[in-house]
Parts: sequence; C-alpha cells; structure tokens
Amino acid sequence: MNRTLTLLGIESSCDDTAAAVVRLTPGETPLILSSEVLGQTSLHAAFGGVVPEIAARAHAERLDGCVEDALAHAGVTLDGLDGIAVTAGPGLIGGVLSGVMLARGLAAARRLPLMAVNHLAGHALTPRLTDGIGFPYVMLLVSGGHCQFLLVEGVDRFRRLGGTIDDAPGEAFDKTAKLLGLPQPGGPAVEAEALLGDPKRFHFPRPLLDRPGCDMSFSGLKTALLRARDALIAEKGGITLQDRRDLCAGFQAAVAEVLAIKTDRALAMVGDVTALAVAGGVAANKTIRAMLETASARHGTPFLAPPLRLCTDNAAMIAWAGIERLRAGIAPSSDFVARPRWPLDDTAPALLGSGKKGAKA
Ligand code: KG4
Ligand code: ZN
Repeated sequence: MNRTLTLLGIESSCDDTAAAVVRLTPGETPLILSSEVLGQTSLHAAFGGVVPEIAARAHAERLDGCVEDALAHAGVTLDGLDGIAVTAGPGLIGGVLSGVMLARGLAAARRLPLMAVNHLAGHALTPRLTDGIGFPYVMLLVSGGHCQFLLVEGVDRFRRLGGTIDDAPGEAFDKTAKLLGLPQPGGPAVEAEALLGDPKRFHFPRPLLDRPGCDMSFSGLKTALLRARDALIAEKGGITLQDRRDLCAGFQAAVAEVLAIKTDRALAMVGDVTALAVAGGVAANKTIRAMLETASARHGTPFLAPPLRLCTDNAAMIAWAGIERLRAGIAPSSDFVARPRWPLDDTAPALLGSGKKGAKA
C-alpha cells in the first residue's frame, strides 16, 4: 500500500484506557500524532490487584473522552482517518469489549476499515514503530502480566520460544514489595532498595534452569523470600532496613540472572536476527536491562529497548499494528469477537500462567 495511512488506536485490555493517532507516510518514519493513557492504579489500589469489573466500568466511562482527546491533540477529525485499530484481546474481557464496541460504532458510522489487533502483537511490533527494524527479531515481553520470548518473523508471524509457566516477573516484584512493606507498584520500590543491598547475602532459587529451553517460573521466588523474611523475624524479632535491602538485592539478582540465561538460550535457538528487543514495565529495571544487554552482546545481537511510555500499555502500538496489517494487505476485520485468551502462536503449547492482570497467552 503506497499511500499515507492515519489510524486511530484504542486499547482497553487491562488497567489502562488508551487512545492514539499514528500516521505513516510512505518513505518516512512513522509519526505518533497523539497518545493518551489514563491509568487506573488508584481505583484498584485497595484491592491488591486489578479488579475486572472496576476496570471494565472505568474503561466504559473514560473511552469516549480519551478518543476525543487523542483526536484533538493529533489535530485530526474522524473524517481524516484511514482506519481504526482496536485491541480485541487477550485481556480482561469486560475492558476489551468496551473498546471493541466503541471502535465498531465509530468504524460503522464513518465507514472506516476496522482492524482487530492482538495486544501482544502491539507490543511485539513496537520496535518497528520506534526504530524501524526489519524481521526477524527476538522480543522479550516482561511486565506485570506478560513474560514471553517471541521470534517475530512478520507482521502476522510470531513463534513463541518460551514463557513463564506461572507468575510474570512484574507480579513477583509486586508481591516482594508487599511482603517487605514497600509501596506498589513494587518494581521501582524494590529496585531502589536493591541498589543499597548486598545481592550475595541471600541466595534465592533460579527456577527451571535445569530444564532445556526458555520457559520460566517466578512463583517459587516469593515463597523463598517469605521464608527468608520469616527466618529473620524468628531469629531477631523483626527485619532491619539493611535486611530489607539485602532481600531486595538477592531477589532482583535472581530474576535478572534467570532472564539473562533464558535470553541467552532464546538467542541460541534462532538464527541471525536483527535485534533483541524488550518491552514491558520490568524492562525499566536497570540491573535487568544491563544483564539483557550483556547477554545480547555475547551473541553479537543489537539490543533495543523502546522508550518506556511505548514499552508499557498504550494505544500507539495498537494503531501501529493496524497500520502494519493494512500495509501488508491483511483485510480489515468485519466480524471478530473479543477474546480473553489469544495466543500469538497457535502452534505453541498453552502456558499455565495467567499473571495478575488476567490470562494473556
Ligand atoms: O508493562 P506494565 O506497565 O504493565 C503491565 O503489566 O501490563 O508493567 C508493570 C509492571 C509492574 O508489575 C511493576 O512492578 C513492574 O512492571 N516494574 C518494574 C519496574 N518498573 C515497573 N519491575 C522491576 N523494576 C522496575 N524498575
Ligand atoms: Zn501489555
């Protein structure tokens, strides 16, 4: 397709209500004209996790305004669009439905092509939006809801190399923070403590390293951390600030080492690739990022981490995935259903884990 494409993207599969407008002019780098993200952290804070009904209601209430803002900030009207892309799964079904219904309504009213986008494909294609890299590349998604290695071979061709069989790493960071009395989201709090701690004082397990391939498991880590904490309490009646820092450092070192070793294996499983790309909130962690970068350098593979606002949930990645699909000649989706589960790679066996934010793969 050799014309300028301007798409509206809508994302509501988890706890961020998002809308964005992205434009691709042939021969030029794509432009994110606007990207609105309304988080819901405070709505769920009291419950220790995302409550699906609260999330769905908040999406339904906020989506209209979010889309209006995205269009206004982009300086585009509905008539100036060439299509609409919407997350059709995987995710919390109430939220996904809110987005899909709005997108359907807008597309029907303006006779615009509607692209149903897999949320994970949105993450996986982001390095092409930000850095224009070619296929194939390896993508590591690490967030509170996802953890998987994908070989991205084309706009619609993904091979899952491995993933977590239980918790996602961000979930493990959040639970660790909770066990140690640190604020949510746990990742940044645990990282800040770990910086002041000794990663060698406590040795936490590195699960599944004895198993070939790059599947991962993180749920045992929090049990190990709980035991170490309780042993300190039994021994001394409580934990000191330094104990807490050392526990955080030991935990973070375990997660980082598992991710680095599995990255090594994922890269060894594939031939030449253009890059190792990461996405997801956990990719913000400096220790983890440095170890992934080192692992990728060992294979002579460029390391790529898009800016954080495009690594975490957003609608620009959904608009972009829609553009990629239209440009590749994939027909718009007229009859599709919202899907709570939607693996990118149908041939890979189902992973057991679901993550705290709902089933993902
Ligand atoms: O990608 P994201 O914003 O949302 C989804 O999970 O979809 O990721 C959020 C997760 C949270 O679990 C948070 O604790 C974790 O990413 N996170 C971090 C860091 N910053 C955010 N984990 C480790 N280190 C960090 N610096
Ligand atoms: Zn996501």
